[in-house]
This record gives sequence, structure tokens and C-alpha cells, in this order.
Amino acid sequence: MNLNENQNRDQWGSKLGFILAAAGSAVGLGNLWKFPYTAGQNGGGAFVIVYFAMLLLVGFTLMLAELVIGRHTQLNAVGAYRKIKKNWAFVGGIGVLASYLILSVYSVIGGWVINYIVKALTGVFNTGDLNALNDVFGNFISNPTQPIIYQAIFVILTLGIVIGGISGGIEKYSKILMPGLFIMMLLIMIRSVTLPGAAEGIKYLLVPDFSKINGSVMLAALGQVFFSLSLGMGIIITYGSYLGKDTDLPQSAITIPLIDTGVALMAGLIVLPAVFAFGIDPTQGPGLIFVTLPAVFAQMPLGQLFAILFFVLVLFAALTSSISLLEASVSYVVDARNWSRKKATCILAAGVFLIGIPSSLSQGSLSHIKLFRGLNIFDTVDFFTSNVLLPLGGLLLCIFIGWVWGVDNALKEASNNGKISFKLAGFWSFVIKYIAPIAILVVFIQGLK
Ligand code: PHE
Repeated sequence: MNLNENQNRDQWGSKLGFILAAAGSAVGLGNLWKFPYTAGQNGGGAFVIVYFAMLLLVGFTLMLAELVIGRHTQLNAVGAYRKIKKNWAFVGGIGVLASYLILSVYSVIGGWVINYIVKALTGVFNTGDLNALNDVFGNFISNPTQPIIYQAIFVILTLGIVIGGISGGIEKYSKILMPGLFIMMLLIMIRSVTLPGAAEGIKYLLVPDFSKINGSVMLAALGQVFFSLSLGMGIIITYGSYLGKDTDLPQSAITIPLIDTGVALMAGLIVLPAVFAFGIDPTQGPGLIFVTLPAVFAQMPLGQLFAILFFVLVLFAALTSSISLLEASVSYVVDARNWSRKKATCILAAGVFLIGIPSSLSQGSLSHIKLFRGLNIFDTVDFFTSNVLLPLGGLLLCIFIGWVWGVDNALKEASNNGKISFKLAGFWSFVIKYIAPIAILVVFIQGLK
């Protein structure tokens, strides 16, 4: 895949290849790591139901909007906005900034995952003792050097793939590894939901307690929709730009979120039943999967093997997302500054590594630094990107399609000039013009109060 504006553009090898690559960007640490702990922190079922509402109103709508802009312009995010309306290029710019900052924290967690592969290989989890597992995790993330070394390894892996181009490697491997992840998750989920005491966790995740819904739960759910679907930063625009006219965009805009949400729910059904079965605090935050999952593996036949395979697959899911995050800024710099792909990738990757270091240290030696609302550096970057920059990018995207470019133009592209039937066209137009921007704005203001 070639992301340079000026050259002959590649297209996805097949429809399935595109869906899997887009799902590969969407499915990542957002589903496996962030969804379970964010649900845990925000009232479980209450969060999940608001998440679904946001997904229906905002997720599908914006997924289609980004695909449409991408295929129409056949350009990267900044170029695409600029081509349709010159002074809107800055929206693409917000996206590039957001993706860069997200990658800086993403790499920290990616590093943790790599370390957990090593731990699984050496049998560290075999004890199954919860206190021990808690200590293992706490000692690792608060160590001043270890997590940074692993974070560097994650950045280097991402860099290696992005330098080499994407289609031959990632697209090919996605086809094998994504289904592999799915099957593994199914098996682990069965173990988790049949643990004694698991029912409480299933209830916590699926039965909403409506009294827990408030502004910050809604903002967390909105931010999670954006983060998990890779929306609001032009990544889906870029992916859509490699599509041919025969692809059914409205259908893709439904399939990708469905896969993404399916994986997130499975992750929730792996983590939360185990959390309750082992008496862990569901609101504990980012460490949730790193403590509960090893405990589940210890209770499974062939647990060590499962642990190794599972963390390897998590790493792969994370890489198919991180490459799309790095690619956003690489393709921008290559176009705007005329740097070579290699130079751009190396310099940007080095930068993202350095920016990530304070986030990593905020789990240990810098944990006393609270930047905003009592959040440490890591959580502040996460909040500012997922819950501020991405919704902002999404809001501007709605205004752009609904009021600047016009829904009629967008619909022409979505239906390929009427050749593909799009039954929900009227509904989609209404949502993108009125409902989605108002919903984003209201949630945004409520959540920031
Ligand atoms: N959607 C990815 C995940 O859930 C993360 C991501 C966000 C990737 C934004 C690209 C853009 O892990």
C-alpha cells in the first residue's frame, strides 16, 4: 500500500482484505485492554448501553462519512479535506496530532504486552495467586527502565512494518491472525464465564443500572466509540482512499463496527467475569487485563500455552492498529515536507517514543504528577486525545459533510451514483446533519463540566 498522494495509488487486494485491514485498525488495545477497564470504571452495564447508543448514532454514521470522503478524494486525511474545501485541511491536521499523541501512550501498553509474552514464556503466571500477580504487574510498570525498553521494542516493530509498506505483510497476516484471535478469545471466554462466581461479572457488564449514567459516563462511552473505531482522525479516510468504486460503502460501515464491537464485548466477557470470580476491584483501571487474565490462564488446562498465544495475538492486534496510527503522520509529512518515507518514519517514531516516556514513568516514579482532574500524565494524554481531540474531529467531520460539502454529494459517492442501493440514506443524512453533531456537542460539554 502506498500512501503518497502523487503516485499511482494501490487498491486493496480484495473486499475481504479491506474489511480485515480496516477491522485490523479498529480492533486493538482499545477493544482488548481499554473497553473492559473503561466499562469497569464507568458502571459496567450502564456504560455498555450508552456505548451502544453512541455506536448507533455516531459510530456507523461517521464510519460511513470517513469512507466516503476517502474514496471520493483518493487522498490522505489532510489532502482529502483540502481537496474538497481548502481551508478545512486543519481538521485533517487535528487528526494527525491526535493519532501521534495516541500512539505515544499506545506504545507504552504495547510494550507491556510484549513483556507479558516474555512472562508467559517463562511461566511467571503459573502460580495463579492473585496477590502475586498484582505485585508482578505493579512491580513491572513502576520500574523506571523495563517498561521503557519494551515500549522501544514496540515502537521499533511498528516502525519496521510502516517502513516496509503494508499490503504484502499486514494485509496478508491479518487474514490469518485476526480469525486466530477470535477463536482464542472464544475459548478463553468460555473458561471465564464458567468460573465459579462469574455470573456476577456477566451481570455487571450486561445489566445496566441506569442510575449510574451521568455526563462523565457518556463522555467516556463517546470517547471509546471514537477510539475503538479509529474514528475522528482521518485514518478511515485514508483506508477508504484505497477503495474501488464497486465496494459497498454503507455495508462496510456496518460490518466494521459490528466486528469491532463483537471483539470488545468478548473481551468484556473474558475480563469482568474473572474480575468478580477472583474478587478483583472492577474499577482499578488500566491494569485490569494484566492481572485478571493471568489468573484465568492459571485455572485453565494448558494455561501457559494459552497465555503465550493470547498475548502474541494481542500484540498482533495492537500492531495492526499502531501502524495505522503511525502511518497517519508519516503520510502527512511525506506529502507536506517531501521527506522520504524512511526518514519520516524513523524521525517520527523516535519522537513518539520520547513523548511516550513520561506516560510510562507516570505509572511509577512520576505518579505523583497530576495534570488534570487528578489524572496522571498517562491518563491525561489518553483523556485529551480520546475524549477531546477525537470528538472534536468527529464534530467537525459532521459539519463538513452536512453543511460544507453537502449530504447530496456525499450520498452520490456512498451509492456510487445510485448504482448501490442505500436504504438508510435519508436517515443517515438527518443524523449527520443534526443528531450526531448535537449529540457530540452535548456529551462533550456535559462530560467536561
Ligand atoms: N482502534 C484502535 C484500537 O481500538 C486504536 C486506534 C485508534 C487505531 C485510533 C487507530 C486510530 O485499539
